Amino acid sequence: MEIPNILTLALGLSVTANVFLISKLKKRSNLNKYLSTQLQKFKDLSSKLRDIVVQREETFYKNLHDIAIGFLDEVEKSYFIVFDGEYGNVVSVFGDVPNNISKRVKKTELPFATQRVYTVDKEKLIGLFPNLTKDGSEKTQVLVSDIFIGGELRAKIIFERKRSFLDEEMDTIKSLGSFFTSFIATHSYVTNQGKFQKDMILTIIRILEYHDPYTKGHSKNVATLASLVAEKMGLPDEMIRKTYWAALVHDIGKIVIPSTILNKEGKLTLEEFEIIKKHPVYGHDFLSTSSELRELAKYVYHHHERWDGKGYPSGLSGEDIPLISRIITVVDAWDAMRSDRPYRKGLPKEVALKELTEHAGMQFDPSIVKIFVSLIEEQGIG
Ligand SMILES: [Fe+2]
Repeated sequence: MEIPNILTLALGLSVTANVFLISKLKKRSNLNKYLSTQLQKFKDLSSKLRDIVVQREETFYKNLHDIAIGFLDEVEKSYFIVFDGEYGNVVSVFGDVPNNISKRVKKTELPFATQRVYTVDKEKLIGLFPNLTKDGSEKTQVLVSDIFIGGELRAKIIFERKRSFLDEEMDTIKSLGSFFTSFIATHSYVTNQGKFQKDMILTIIRILEYHDPYTKGHSKNVATLASLVAEKMGLPDEMIRKTYWAALVHDIGKIVIPSTILNKEGKLTLEEFEIIKKHPVYGHDFLSTSSELRELAKYVYHHHERWDGKGYPSGLSGEDIPLISRIITVVDAWDAMRSDRPYRKGLPKEVALKELTEHAGMQFDPSIVKIFVSLIEEQGIG
């Protein structure tokens, strides 16, 4: 997989993660409209941002900063700080800021909170940039957004304005932080050439798992097992590789499904279930923005089809369903049955295998179930 693939995936996931957290849905009837608006935002942003990830560091951060400022109204001043060990470098400033501000600040002297986004007293900034905020008499509100990569503070964006910050705006900025996490990681991948694509995609998958904790480890399990099935079927290496990546990202569309629905402990309403059923379509939409990922998008789109044609979203049946999608369907069901859910414990291995066998020829491709069962038995998996 080449760099643009990862980039698109990073953009897709991060923007959707971000737009998602913005949600303050009050009325169910607004949901579909909301989701389509957010998808549109993602598409607009992804094309814009694809260009800037390859830019030199300085321009890259300046552009990210401009995007962040664009998400808030009436920002008067703003600083983008990027960390390198114990020190932060002010890489971009916005507004009427003196030229002689200190460009390098100690991490421990910066405002910090356990939340990713928080407001701080203006006083803390005056301490931080003594020659920056001499206008301390002015009543300004300060919002800080901390951006972490792999648990480490990587960047900090500070916004100042006169009006106080609303909860919705803080949510937006928090979401933007998730987005920047993947974007900065991707930038460092592109510029350093030092990260593996797999690590990058796994990072993005972790964003999904953060949003939907019950899928923790699921994507990776499905990818590993699905590629073993593909291998056992004697598929060419290229197909095995595609099976792995498609399986790894098969549920990324869930990132735009409200977590209140994904993590609901009680029974889902019909409407909620219809919303969850859209995740293969969303996943397809994110991935298909890149020509390199379009093929994977197709496999993601069909991973909830059924052998008997009663699945979704297209209702394809039998061998009309792409082979890789059929493999993912079987392994996905297996891993879902074996995992604990909010409403039940994972099923025992024998019970899960029996379920697969009983639904072969209805929900599942019978030849794949056969191969899968023998794989589990031979290798003692699960
Ligand atoms: Fe799924």
